[in-house]
Amino acid sequence: MRDELLDPSAVDLTEASDEVGLRPRSMDDFVGQSELKEHLGIILEAARRRGQAADHLLFAGPPGLGKTTLAGIVAAELGVGIQVTSGPALERAGDLASILSQLEPGDVLFIDEIHRLSRAVEEVLYPAIEDFQLDIVLGKGPAARSIRLDVPRFTLVGATTRTGLITGPLRDRFGLVARLDYYEVRDLEAIVVRAASILGVEIDGDGAAEIARRSRGTPRIANRLLRRVRDFAEVRGTGVVDRAAAREGLNLFGVDERGLDKVDRAVLEALCRRFDGRPVGLSTLAISVSEPTETVEDVHEPFLIREGLIMRTPRGRVATAAGWRHLGLTPPPPTDDTAPPGLFG
Ligand SMILES: Nc1ncnc2c1ncn2[C@@H]1O[C@H](COP(=O)(O)OP(=O)(O)OP(=O)(O)O)[C@@H](O)[C@H]1O
Ligand SMILES: [Mg+2]
Repeated sequence: MRDELLDPSAVDLTEASDEVGLRPRSMDDFVGQSELKEHLGIILEAARRRGQAADHLLFAGPPGLGKTTLAGIVAAELGVGIQVTSGPALERAGDLASILSQLEPGDVLFIDEIHRLSRAVEEVLYPAIEDFQLDIVLGKGPAARSIRLDVPRFTLVGATTRTGLITGPLRDRFGLVARLDYYEVRDLEAIVVRAASILGVEIDGDGAAEIARRSRGTPRIANRLLRRVRDFAEVRGTGVVDRAAAREGLNLFGVDERGLDKVDRAVLEALCRRFDGRPVGLSTLAISVSEPTETVEDVHEPFLIREGLIMRTPRGRVATAAGWRHLGLTPPPPTDDTAPPGLFG
């Protein structure tokens, strides 16, 4: 068995030991996403009553919204084991076979970044998740022969930040495809308050609200900002996270009123100043802010679009009038690229 196929960091976040303790372990601790929780609750309850493995589940959505957390919760609620791996870690069909052979009946197999599975591995996965059979080819060339093995019934849980990159046949084999949405501020407040109590941080309602408001709808960011404000409050303040500590701490760490971080602002600056408001392609934009294209596309762009600060046009990304104003600049007069669609638009 190759141990590197199992990726413990996917469940136990290495960022800080604090983070591990913050991850909700049960459905009750998982804040927000009420519709998704309801659907999932029914599926898991039904599987429990029938004493069968639950249907395969796909969680999609931007980073930090709780996909890995949910995979752990599914296994915990079903009272089964979980094996964790990821699309890029499964290089060859044999890698998948090796993991499948370790599953106990009913177990959860969690494949993170499932959109990055290779074609060859995906082909082996289909019969495994549909008929719980594994086709293995032994040997090479004319001497090669194929054998068919049974695998125990298991639940595949996939996570992806890119639903668009999942092939149709794979997507169709999931019993539930759930999209995680950005969280409401009041849900993030609850997440911050819960995390503060786990970390033993004294916080008041205003402090939690301020952190929640600047967390860009993302629990992971809420937890991270809470830790930074806690540091700030301990070093420069009274140790209590109130509104003043949250404001000053977040400003100090470069998180502005609306939750934009340095890279978000660099993207806006590039669109408004460096490229004079002309439409800019994604890869040019990524280079000009020195970030990988995927990071700009998965993390910064969706947030800035959702905030109405930038938009996509057929010719590239442009800042909206609100984007210009956010930087304290005067928006240029509307052009074809920035004007709302007219009669023939
Ligand atoms: N609904 C929630 N309630 C409380 N805390 C949450 C919730 N969702 C996520 N978190 C917190 O946010 C952190 C990040 O969540 P998680 O690792 O599950 O995100 P992810 O969607 O798997 O992200 P990535 O795409 O980067 O893998 C968790 O450690 C957890 O503390
Ligand atoms: Mg994850």
